[in-house]
Amino acid sequence: MTATPTLELRGIDKSFGPVQVLRHVDFTANAGEVTALVGDNGAGKSTLVKCAGGIYPIDSGEYYFDGKPVTVHSPRDASALGVEIVYQDLALCENLDIVQNMFLGRERTRGIVLDEPTMEKLAGQTLDRLSVRTVKSVRQQVSSLSGGQRQTVAIAKAVLWNSKVVILDEPTAALGVAQTAQVLELVRQLADNGLAVVLISHNMNDVFAVADQIACLYLGRMAAQVKASDVTYSQVVELITAGRSGDLGLPPATAAAAGNGNGNGNGNGSHDGGGVDLGDTNGAQQ
Ligand SMILES: Nc1ncnc2c1ncn2[C@@H]1O[C@H](COP(=O)(O)OP(=O)(O)O)[C@@H](O)[C@H]1O
Ligand SMILES: [Mg+2]
Repeated sequence: MTATPTLELRGIDKSFGPVQVLRHVDFTANAGEVTALVGDNGAGKSTLVKCAGGIYPIDSGEYYFDGKPVTVHSPRDASALGVEIVYQDLALCENLDIVQNMFLGRERTRGIVLDEPTMEKLAGQTLDRLSVRTVKSVRQQVSSLSGGQRQTVAIAKAVLWNSKVVILDEPTAALGVAQTAQVLELVRQLADNGLAVVLISHNMNDVFAVADQIACLYLGRMAAQVKASDVTYSQVVELITAGRSGDLGLPPATAAAAGNGNGNGNGNGSHDGGGVDLGDTNGAQQ
């Protein structure tokens, strides 16, 4: 594809105090595609997307949206561009219903009262547009929903706001097999509807099931961003665990230096693939 990426980050550096978590990271996400962001625990995946979402300010580097340089200093700036993050730890309110959750903090009003009919209609339309059939009523309390349904509501909430980039941080981490399949189908649907979707995942089956591109972080550096169809399973696992695979990835010296524990956090630059889930389920049930 020669189209301009919807989201493009160039040369991103990010430190927390003395710990440099991201080093000159380049990353792109195209409209109509699912870009998987992979990497071992502590590689910097969540930090990178939080920079994209305006939660963390970047130390240096450039942020382009639809090819234009922008400054993103807050989640509000990111939302204004159409960049929404669905967090690992969901952040839905159990005691509220689906409509209330989807409009939380951005409620529609008519005069001084909440415009319930409009919010209800928009929530329903969004779920329909995403072909969500598993939710019976938009007035159901979130506490009564399964893990997969909650993830679906969280995703619908993110796409309700004319978003252009939707970032999902480990959306299937706590789900069983059937619910994972449902969520992945939804992820594909978002991209097919024209959004740029970024999917953080540890699960290689999930990644290869839906991703058009795979971006692999290794100890804070972007080892490679490649088309999913150009790489094998084992190449991606090597990129995750060693930062390189054959001609792909970081130069040997860089990968080795990074792997020697340069203060980047939890020192899990081991080569045992500890954070890679090769199976089709992680056994968690909900
Ligand atoms: N707010 C923070 N303050 C200090 N260090 C952090 C903070 N957030 C993340 N880190 C460190 O940054 C590194 C990358 O973390 P993270 O982005 O969560 O990795 P991943 O999502 O790939 O598992 C880790 O070493 C982590 O300890
Ligand atoms: Mg993370």
